[in-house]
Amino acid sequence: MHAPITPAIADFIHRLPKTETHLHIEGALPYELLQKLDPEKFSQQPECWSKDFKWKCFEDFEAHLIDHALQWFTKPDRYYEAAQVIFAGHLAQNIRYVETSFHAGMIEFLGIPGREILSAIRSAAPKGLEVRVFMGMARNCYSEVLQPVLDECLTWDGLAGIDLHGVEYLPLEDWTPKLWDKARAHGLETKAHAGEFDGANKVREAIEVLGTKRIQHGIRAIEDDAVIELAMEADATFDVCPISNVKLDVIDRLEDHPIRKLFDQGIRCTLSTDDPFSFGNTVEDEYAALSAGLNFTNEELKQIAKNGFEVALVDEATRAKWTAEVDAI
Ligand code: ADE
Ligand code: ZN
Repeated sequence: MHAPITPAIADFIHRLPKTETHLHIEGALPYELLQKLDPEKFSQQPECWSKDFKWKCFEDFEAHLIDHALQWFTKPDRYYEAAQVIFAGHLAQNIRYVETSFHAGMIEFLGIPGREILSAIRSAAPKGLEVRVFMGMARNCYSEVLQPVLDECLTWDGLAGIDLHGVEYLPLEDWTPKLWDKARAHGLETKAHAGEFDGANKVREAIEVLGTKRIQHGIRAIEDDAVIELAMEADATFDVCPISNVKLDVIDRLEDHPIRKLFDQGIRCTLSTDDPFSFGNTVEDEYAALSAGLNFTNEELKQIAKNGFEVALVDEATRAKWTAEVDAI
């Protein structure tokens, strides 16, 4: 196991202005809110937060996440309350910009309108933090209930974009590339989870068939040089979550994580937590992991932070200000 970081590096990581661009809001449910609901049931720190914990499989992880999310996220107000706590945590880590997604399946499970979830999350954004909200959906979500929602969501006020997530090895269905094209035509950003549980071919599919440049994870692109080349040509960004990858056993040990090679080969990588409820991680932990486990220098960590600001959905003056702040550290 790698050595812990020095207090000087921890201080550097803390002071670095940062982004988080891959965060599932239901997977970021603050544990303290569940404890408030039922102090006895949630008296123990979750087992999945321990350092060496590994999830058995994606389905176990997802079932645990959804089971807990459904205990809290019962109405739009609960999204507002959770988002307030989550965003306060971002400010406390010197994070300036966040992209978070809510799960379209919750609209179906709870019968609450997507617009209200979106509005609840957006209105929780505090001063000093720019928040962009995406709707995430599973590859097989085109149900009777969600079909009309997906057809109209692109016009919702304040929706920044859409993301494809859930079980990765399901086939891409016909509706998906059409919706992804339509989203970009409406000026929205498009993302897709790819190259996490399935191989480099899924990263290729996300770029070539879905037309997205924002790959969530993307790390298994490392298995195919031609896909790395494609991602470089497309100027793609990989929103990487190393601790998630280790705890979901996509990668055996942090020291083997491909972000080192992806970064060295020139792929634009950013750093995020994915689902802190299920991994017990913070963005600062992710930076520390790169420093201690993968020998990222402070200059390289600055580049990772700048990568997040480079793809942020903000005006050029804001981007330039944030970038200059990173440079000044
Ligand atoms: N939904 C929440 N976390 C996810 C992950 N790591 N991969 C795919 N879908 C997810
Ligand atoms: Zn994710």
